[in-house]
Amino acid sequence: MTCKPKGVVIRTILVTSCTRRKSIRKMFNKSHNKCMMKDKYITDCARSFAQNLRKSLNILEQNIEDHYTIGKVIGIGHYGTVREGWKLSDDSKVAIKVFELKTLQKTFKSICCEVSSLQKASHNNIIDLHQVFMDETCCYLVLEYVEGVDLSDLIMDGYELKEREVKYILQQITSTINYLHSIHICHRDIKLDNIMLNTDTFDIKLIDFGFSTNFSEVDHLNCKCGTPYYVAPEVLKGNYGKECDMWSIGIMAYYMLTGNPPFHSESDSELFNSIMKDEVLYPQKVWESISPEAKGFIEKLLIKDPSKRMTAEESLEHPWLSDEDISSTARSNTRCGSI
Ligand SMILES: Nc1ncnc2c1ncn2[C@@H]1O[C@H](COP(=O)(O)OP(=O)(O)O)[C@@H](O)[C@H]1O
Ligand SMILES: [Mg+2]
Repeated sequence: MTCKPKGVVIRTILVTSCTRRKSIRKMFNKSHNKCMMKDKYITDCARSFAQNLRKSLNILEQNIEDHYTIGKVIGIGHYGTVREGWKLSDDSKVAIKVFELKTLQKTFKSICCEVSSLQKASHNNIIDLHQVFMDETCCYLVLEYVEGVDLSDLIMDGYELKEREVKYILQQITSTINYLHSIHICHRDIKLDNIMLNTDTFDIKLIDFGFSTNFSEVDHLNCKCGTPYYVAPEVLKGNYGKECDMWSIGIMAYYMLTGNPPFHSESDSELFNSIMKDEVLYPQKVWESISPEAKGFIEKLLIKDPSKRMTAEESLEHPWLSDEDISSTARSNTRCGSI
């Protein structure tokens, strides 16, 4: 996790001719159909879950393949596989997140969270949900297609983000989280993998609302969920609120600036122990090239007591984030492929 390979792997987007693209799509569609038909594993129980879900989330009863061509896999996540797709009526490109309905409760919960939050949220930096389909075996979320890479892949490929780029990314994330918190949605899985980056403009889109939830200011959340490296100490204790998203932003900021996570360990239990008990270290050798304002920003987020942690609104006012309009400077000469 700590090492960043030297040199940058340039990611290119292969542009194929229209005819070739269509025949490739046909091929993928065929294999997709085959795998769908082969295994009708949905049980009665799952069917009744699906019917309830369909009603409560307004899911279309039509066949997705009457409306979209489904292409190759572009991302594999915990509950869903994301494929590229094309709308038959205008050939526009989309991303289709496919959930197999075999692992009942967890999958259904994840679909419910993702669909209801995305139906409620409307923001420039949040992925658009176009439509939802469901058949005997799968649920399909048709999403806006994001050109680019997720931040995790970008860093794993060896790209070293500059401080001004990190700042621009964080400006967008904090304002997105500020918006989500204002409409009472807590994302609960803020991490590099769930942020798509346009490598030309450095504009971001937040994806993956599978753990998101509605919260009230009064009742606390108690479900222990998220991703180990990013999870806030109060989530591990099972009593928390929207502040957990800000902790995860702090972890991300630390990681983007240094290439290392602030808490790490061989086992999850040791990692959780460390998150609960250990102070965050800022080794001089690593931090001497990073501005004190950036460090100050992270220090206000990685506070174990959520009531003392900087809120999304406060973070937008922090001197490090609010000092200038950095969108254009972040972009200048920073195409990932050209560095
Ligand atoms: N709308 C999209 N456009 C392009 N790629 C996407 C899109 N949504 C997801 N991906 C890719 O698929 C991966 C998994 O998607 P995600 O929604 O995070 O699934 P999971 O909930 O299973 O983690 C992402 O990390 C990203 O690389
Ligand atoms: Mg994800």
